[in-house]
Amino acid sequence: MCINPPLYRNKKTQTVILRICGAAKPPSAGNLSAGMSENLHQLRCFGCGARISGVDASPDFRCADCGDLFEVEYPGWGERKGPDRPNPGALKWLWRERRCSAEGLDHSGVWRFRELLPILESFGNAVTLREGNTPLYHLPRAARRLGIDQLYAKHQGMNPTGSFKDTGMTAAMSVAKERGFEWVACASTGNTSASMAAYATRAGLKSLVLIPDGKIAWGKLSQAMDYGAVTCQLKADFDGCLTLLTEIVNEAPIYLLNSVNPYRLEGQKTPAFEIAEAFDWNVPDHLIVPGGNLGNSSALGKGFREMHELGLVARMPKISVIQAAGANPLVRSLAEHGGKSLEPVEAHTRATAIRIGNPASWRKAARAIQETGGWCLDVTEAEIAIAKAEIGAEGLGCEPASAVTLAGLKKLRAEGKIASSETVVLVLTGHSLKDADYTIDFHRGTLLTADESAGREAEIVSLQRNAQVVEATPAAVLAALKGRAG
Ligand code: F0G
Repeated sequence: MCINPPLYRNKKTQTVILRICGAAKPPSAGNLSAGMSENLHQLRCFGCGARISGVDASPDFRCADCGDLFEVEYPGWGERKGPDRPNPGALKWLWRERRCSAEGLDHSGVWRFRELLPILESFGNAVTLREGNTPLYHLPRAARRLGIDQLYAKHQGMNPTGSFKDTGMTAAMSVAKERGFEWVACASTGNTSASMAAYATRAGLKSLVLIPDGKIAWGKLSQAMDYGAVTCQLKADFDGCLTLLTEIVNEAPIYLLNSVNPYRLEGQKTPAFEIAEAFDWNVPDHLIVPGGNLGNSSALGKGFREMHELGLVARMPKISVIQAAGANPLVRSLAEHGGKSLEPVEAHTRATAIRIGNPASWRKAARAIQETGGWCLDVTEAEIAIAKAEIGAEGLGCEPASAVTLAGLKKLRAEGKIASSETVVLVLTGHSLKDADYTIDFHRGTLLTADESAGREAEIVSLQRNAQVVEATPAAVLAALKGRAG
C-alpha cells in the first residue's frame, strides 16, 4: 500500500521501511530497526570535531580531548547520493501516513520521525508515552496587538508530563534501557525530573533526581514523587546540582539524562519536524524559544538544519532565544564576547525553570542563533508575568519560563526586528498547571514588587482576575459580573 517512491537508496534499509509501513506482514516493534539504525549514528565533539561511537562516550558526555559536548551525527546523510541518505518526498508521505497507523510507535510524535533519529539498535526498545504531536495554536489576540497576522504557539506543555522534556526523554531513556542501565539520574529545575521519573518507571528503571531546595515549582516536585524517583533536594542551585551529579555518574554506573546527553537533543529536535509539517514544509520565518540550559534551542536548531541539509525544507527559520534578565548568561556572551566565551552568572528569576547561570549547551545555542540570523535578548520579571497572563487570556496558558517567548517577541517587534508579514512561532515549553502558585500570586497582586512593576501597573491590573468571595445568592453573583462585560 505504500511502496513508492523509495525511502532510502539502500536496498536493505528500504526493505525494512516497507515492512514498517505495512507493505509486507506488519512487523512487531522489536524488528523495526534492523539495518536502519545499524551504524548510522556516531558522536561528534562540538568543540574539536573528534568522532567516537555512541557506546564510547564517557558518563558525563564530555569529550576526553577538549571537554566540550557531543552531537549525534549520521555520516551516511552527508553524501548526496549515498545509500543511507533518506528520500525527502517519501519520508514526508510516510510520516503523515503514520498518524493513522495502528502501530504503537507511530503514535509517538517523536518516533513517527524515526528515520531521522536512528539511534537505537532496535526500535523495540523505545520507551514511549505517546509524546509529541503537540498542538500548534494561532494566537489571535496577541497577533492583533502586535500587528502580526501569522503568530502561533507550538505548545510543548501538552506533552504527557506537561513539558517539552518528554520528546527528549523518550529518546535518551530508550538508549539507557537498550544499553542495560539500571539507574538513571538528572539535575533539574523541575521539568526534566518529572519527565525522567515518568519514563524511567515505564522503562522499569530506577531514577535519581537532584533539585535545588525550595527553588522548583510544586507541580513538578509532586510529579517526581508520584512517579517514584529518589528525590534529593540540595542546598545548591541548578548549576551546583549538575556539577555534583557529574561527579556521581563518573563514579557509579548511573546514566546521565540531562541535556548534555546528546540523545536527549535527538528527541527534542522532532518538534521542528512537526512545525515544518504543519506549514506543509514551508518553514515559518521566525522561531522564538526560551533559554535555560540551552539544550532546547540547540535541538530545534539541529532539527531545522538537518531538514534543510536533507532537502526536506528550503531554508531554516530565524531562531531567537529569550532569557530572564536575572539569568541571562547567553545574552551577555553574545553581546560582550560575540558568543565565543561565556561567563556564568548567579541566576535569579521567578521563572524557576530557567534559573540557570552556567548553561551547558551555550555553544550549540549560539550557533543556532548566529547561523539563522536570530537574536538573543532578555526580559524582566514584569514582562514575563504580563506575557504569561496574556497567553492565559488566549485560553492556552503556560508556565512562566515559556512566557519569555511572547515577552521577547514584543521587544523584537518594538525594535523593528520582525516585520508584520512574518510568520512567527513561539515555543511554549511547559503547562500552565506546573506552577499554579505563580499564577495565583499574579492575579492576587502579590507576585511582583513595586519596583518590578513600576510603570506597568495599569497593564498588570487590567490582566488580573482574582477570585472574589461572594455571597451565595443569584443577585450577588450577578453583581460580580458588572464591570466584566466585554
Ligand atoms: N522552559 C521550561 C518550562 C523548562 O523547564 C526549561 C528547562 C526551559 C524552558 C529551558 O530549556 O534548558 O533546554 O534551555 N528546564 C530544565 C529542567 C533545565 O531541569 O527542567 P533549556
